[in-house]
Amino acid sequence: MTSDPLPTTAGARAFLGTPRKQHLIDGAWVAASSGKSFATHDPANGRYLADLPEGTVADVDAAVEAARRAFESSAWRAMTPALRGRMLWRIAEAIDAHADELAELETLDQGKPLKTARFAEIPAAAEQFRFYAGFATKIFGTTIPTSIAYQPAGKQIFAYTTRVPVGVVAAIIPWNSPLVMAAMKLAPALAAGCTVVLKPAEETSLTALRLGELLIESGVPPGVVNIVTGYGETVGAALTHHPQVDKVAFTGSTEVGKLIVAAARGNLKKLTLELGGKSPVIILPDADLGPTVSGVARGIFSNSGQVCVAGSRVYVHRSIMPAVIDGLAAQARALRLGHGLDPTADLGPLINRKQSDRVAAYVTEAVAEGVDLVTGGRQSGDLGTFYDPTVITGAREEMRLMREEIFGPVVSVTPFDEPDQAIAFANDSPYGLAASVWTQSLSAAHRLADRIHAGTVWINCHSYFSPELPKGGHKQSGWGYENGAPGLENYLETKTVCAVI
Ligand code: NAI
Ligand code: MG
Repeated sequence: MTSDPLPTTAGARAFLGTPRKQHLIDGAWVAASSGKSFATHDPANGRYLADLPEGTVADVDAAVEAARRAFESSAWRAMTPALRGRMLWRIAEAIDAHADELAELETLDQGKPLKTARFAEIPAAAEQFRFYAGFATKIFGTTIPTSIAYQPAGKQIFAYTTRVPVGVVAAIIPWNSPLVMAAMKLAPALAAGCTVVLKPAEETSLTALRLGELLIESGVPPGVVNIVTGYGETVGAALTHHPQVDKVAFTGSTEVGKLIVAAARGNLKKLTLELGGKSPVIILPDADLGPTVSGVARGIFSNSGQVCVAGSRVYVHRSIMPAVIDGLAAQARALRLGHGLDPTADLGPLINRKQSDRVAAYVTEAVAEGVDLVTGGRQSGDLGTFYDPTVITGAREEMRLMREEIFGPVVSVTPFDEPDQAIAFANDSPYGLAASVWTQSLSAAHRLADRIHAGTVWINCHSYFSPELPKGGHKQSGWGYENGAPGLENYLETKTVCAVI
C-alpha cells in the first residue's frame, strides 16, 4: 500500500492552496455564520486537504432566502429556455475543461482511483448537464378540449396546461460519487427553472465547491445555485424542515431517507429519494462464464463496493457454483488496493474508518454465524480504511449480511436449483433498487427481468449508467426516478388554465 502521492494539476494545487473554503450564497463566497469549520482529509492516509465551513441554521436560512429571491427574480424567470440550455451546456464544457483537476480533487477527497474519477464520473457529471441542456427547450404543456357542459351561452372554453418549476430545491448528496450525484440533481433542476441549495456530504465537499466556481464562470445568476457545507444533522435537517424549500432531492441511506419523509411533512415538500439497495445478481447455468465473472466482480467491487446498486447478493445455478466462486475469488485477489492517485491501484480506501469498521463488523458477525470466508475480510492501510475484496458463501437469507446494505466490497454467493427459487431469493428483500441477470438465453433473461422487483434490471452487465436511463428504487429503495425524462419531471409542476372566452 502506498504513501501520499500529491496532486499534479495546477488547478487542484491552487484549489488546495487556499484551504479555508467558504459557502456559496447569493453568488458570493462567505464564511459560516458561526465562524466554525471542520477539516476534510484524504481517506487513504489521513492527510489534511482543506477546512470546510460548518454550516448553521442561519447559513441555511440565508441560502434558502437567496434561492427564493432568485427563483422570483426577473433575471432568472426571464432567462429563456434556450439561454438556460446554453448555460447548462457551458457548465458541461467547464467540467470537461477542468476534468483533470476535478478528478484529482475527487480522488483525494473520496479515495476512488483516478481512472474512475477521470474517465467515468467527472465526464458523467458533464454529460448530465449536456443531456438536460437539450430538455430546457422541450418543456411543454398541452391544450385540452374539455367536455364541461356548464358554460355561459355564446362562449367557449379554452383550457391548457403549462409546466412550471417546483421552486426552491434542496439537493442533499452522499459521498460515494460526489460530483456526478450533484450533477444528477443540479442539471434537471436548472433545466426546469428551479433554484437550488446544494448540500454536499461532509466527507466529500471539495468538488462541489470547485463546481460552484465553475457555475459562476458559466453564468449561473446569483442565488440560483447556493452551496452550504456541513453536517447532515444540522445543515441537512434544517434544509428538510425549511418552510421555504419546496422540494428535497436526496441520495443516501434509507435511514436518513425516512427522517426526510418526516421532516417534509411541515409544508408537504415534494421528495425524490434515492436510497439504499441490496441488489441481487442471478447467474443461469448457460451464462458465458468469463465475461460473467468479471462483470459480476466489477458490479460489487468497483468503488470498493460503495455503490448504491452494488450486486452484493449473487445467486448462481448450483451446477456452476464452484467455477463462479473460484472466478470471483481470483478476481478479488487480483485487485490491487492503493491510493487513488497511484496508477496501479484498482481500488481505493473506503470513505473513512467508520465505514471500514462497519463493513468489517458485517463480515465478522457473519463469520461468527458460520459463513465461509472464501477470500478477503481484512482491513489495512495507515488508517485501517482499506478493505480487501471479500467473497462469502454459506450465508442464510435471514442474516444481516444478506438483508442490510453493507456499502463495501463484500459479496455473498448462494446456489439455486430452479429459476423460481432464484427469483424468490432475489425478491426477498426490503430493497428494490437494481439487479442483474446473466444468461445467453434471451427469453430467460427477459422473463426474469420481468419478475424481479427492482428499478433497474441489467442483462449481462451491471452498473451500466447513462443520463438517458431512468434510475430509481422500488420498495424501500426510494421514491421517484432520476435521469431521462422522468428525472426532469421531479422538478416540474403542472398548472391547468381553464378559461371561458
Ligand atoms: P447518510 O444518509 O447519513 O448521508 C447522505 C447525505 O445525507 C449526507 O450529505 C449527509 O450529510 C446527509 N444527512 C445525514 N443526516 C441527515 C439528516 N438528518 N437530514 C438531512 N440530511 C442528512 O449516509 P452515511 O451515514 O454517510 O452512510 C451510512 C450508510 O448509508 C452507508 O453505509 C450506506 O449503506 C448508505 N448510503 C447509501 C448511499 C446510496 O447511494 N444509496 C450513499 C451514502 C450512504
Ligand atoms: Mg449519516
